[in-house]
Amino acid sequence: MAEISDIDLTKTLSDAQFKAIKVNFDEHAVLLFRNQLIGDENQIAFTKLFGPIIKNTNYHRPGEILRISDNLSDVSNLDHNGKLLPPDSGRRLHSRANRLWHTDASFKHIPARCSILTAHEVPPLGGNTAFADMRAAYDALADQQKVELEGLTAWHSIFHSREKMGYTDYNQAARDEVPPAQQVLVRTNPVTGRKSLYLASHISSIDGMTDDAAQELVDALIAHATQPQFVYEHEWRVGDLIVWDNRYTMHRAMGHDDMNHRRDMRRSTVSDEINSIDLQKRLIIELDKGKPHGYSTN
Ligand SMILES: [Fe+2]
Repeated sequence: MAEISDIDLTKTLSDAQFKAIKVNFDEHAVLLFRNQLIGDENQIAFTKLFGPIIKNTNYHRPGEILRISDNLSDVSNLDHNGKLLPPDSGRRLHSRANRLWHTDASFKHIPARCSILTAHEVPPLGGNTAFADMRAAYDALADQQKVELEGLTAWHSIFHSREKMGYTDYNQAARDEVPPAQQVLVRTNPVTGRKSLYLASHISSIDGMTDDAAQELVDALIAHATQPQFVYEHEWRVGDLIVWDNRYTMHRAMGHDDMNHRRDMRRSTVSDEINSIDLQKRLIIELDKGKPHGYSTN
């Protein structure tokens, strides 16, 4: 994690300013900006500098009135009137799975590149977000395990992580809207060649393995990757904005007394340009042509 200071994200950034942010983003994967009292439109404009926005999808609640723009995901515990969500709210129950380690939108064929989260109201206690560096976690694996993981592909489903938290109330239309997506288990950064684990609680199966064996492997890898030496836990203040790279980190919400304390957080999400398996194939072709890491999705 790196903190970027002396910048006002309510203002239009110069090319040089954004380039400097991007260099830090590529190196650190999690960037913190303090005291950014920005509105939703500022957040959306800043997000678009990183790439195309993935709109909020309303998986199972057709007709629900949104509190904020659908260019943002409402990860608050508030309804459209600004009141605390009731205990049986579908959005509340759906969002509980954000407390599991995950990377955003890995359940989409073309997954997320980065996410941006802004803090508008924070609870008096708890509600932190933890981030795990999946590059460092990969580096720390035993050589034999790196060999065993090479080439493995996994299936990610948003409904799998929700089921883990005991919530399955999705209609068929919602399930059809977001079918499982296949991703590599080990990513290669196309610019640097550095490898990282690509894990999430969304993983429901791994090709060539039984579901039990796959779950055992995923659980063990997540336990490895979320050891304290790989994790940064952020205690939010109002005005904080964090950008993280979903390709090389996992994260999770740490929970708080959400029946009694408001937490207003707004997330914008940027799509990557390519499915992770297609990217890996492209990298292999480039390597065969003698162009190591010559392809960049950035
Ligand atoms: Fe998330």
